[in-house]
Amino acid sequence: MTSENVKQPSPKKKRGEMIAVCSAKGGVGRTVLTVNLAISLFKKNIGVSILDGDLQFGDIGLAMDLQSTFTIKDVMEEIAQLDEHTLISYLCKHDSGVRVLPAPDRPEFAELVTKEAIQKVIDLLLQEFSYLVVDTGVGLGEQTIELLEKADQILVVTNLEMATLKNTKLMLETLELLGIRDKVQIVINRSTMESVIGASDVPDILGIEDPIFIPNDFGVASQSLNVGIPFVINQGKTEIAKSIFKMAEQLTSRRDISYIKSKNPSVLSKLLSFKRTKEGTGE
Ligand SMILES: Nc1ncnc2c1ncn2[C@@H]1O[C@H](COP(=O)(O)OP(=O)(O)OP(=O)(O)O)[C@@H](O)[C@H]1O
Ligand SMILES: [Mg+2]
Repeated sequence: MTSENVKQPSPKKKRGEMIAVCSAKGGVGRTVLTVNLAISLFKKNIGVSILDGDLQFGDIGLAMDLQSTFTIKDVMEEIAQLDEHTLISYLCKHDSGVRVLPAPDRPEFAELVTKEAIQKVIDLLLQEFSYLVVDTGVGLGEQTIELLEKADQILVVTNLEMATLKNTKLMLETLELLGIRDKVQIVINRSTMESVIGASDVPDILGIEDPIFIPNDFGVASQSLNVGIPFVINQGKTEIAKSIFKMAEQLTSRRDISYIKSKNPSVLSKLLSFKRTKEGTGE
């Protein structure tokens, strides 16, 4: 047998990264963040899918103006035989290119979605897409905790209201108890809104460092939700859209670094020592 006849093992695909978006209070911007972040990641030529994990009252379908599509409830009916090809046929392809698995049509269907099934769906999506962005139900219900445990990164969305901050702090404490606090990145939404609490006070209040700030722009955010066109598509020059592009940039560069680190630590240390040498020589 010649070497050409020997089938080379196909290079193993890098597993995607799951980002879960959650909050301690409702109406703070989880859905706005989920759809705009997913599309911003896709704009960087990255395969992205969205799972609406707000299983009772998910409105990703509305936020992206998706017309009558399959939902995760339909996937449940095929879960035993489900493979990546069948799953992809259930996803709704949004005009942006992002693929979406919406939440069930009715709140009472949420409990039909079992833990095992959702884990299987997520694993298959992570095989196929570089990023999976998951919106979640408000607070820390059982299904949300399962999603947060499974996620690689958790974005906890807050704002400048005292009640939201108080509950966000409690949420952080619970995530600490669950042993998943180190995956958390705080996002201060509407950070420029008028409030007695300034955005710069939030790190001290929550005991955190380096939050991500998204400015206040109710006109753009609410119109985009109402018409179902995420603002990063048609309002890319606004500050709110720019802040989401920046966030996508940060997430992808962080991922590239952790990937190099895990696959080839020597390359990373060489790169870092090269950078240090250059800094040392003032080059
Ligand atoms: N940066 C922002 N500036 C101004 N308004 C915003 C901003 N982000 C979100 N909003 C507004 O806040 C409201 C709630 O947003 P969204 O539906 O995304 O929140 P949510 O956390 O998903 O809510 P729910 O708990 O109902 O799922 C909407 O009216 C939206 O337009
Ligand atoms: Mg929502």
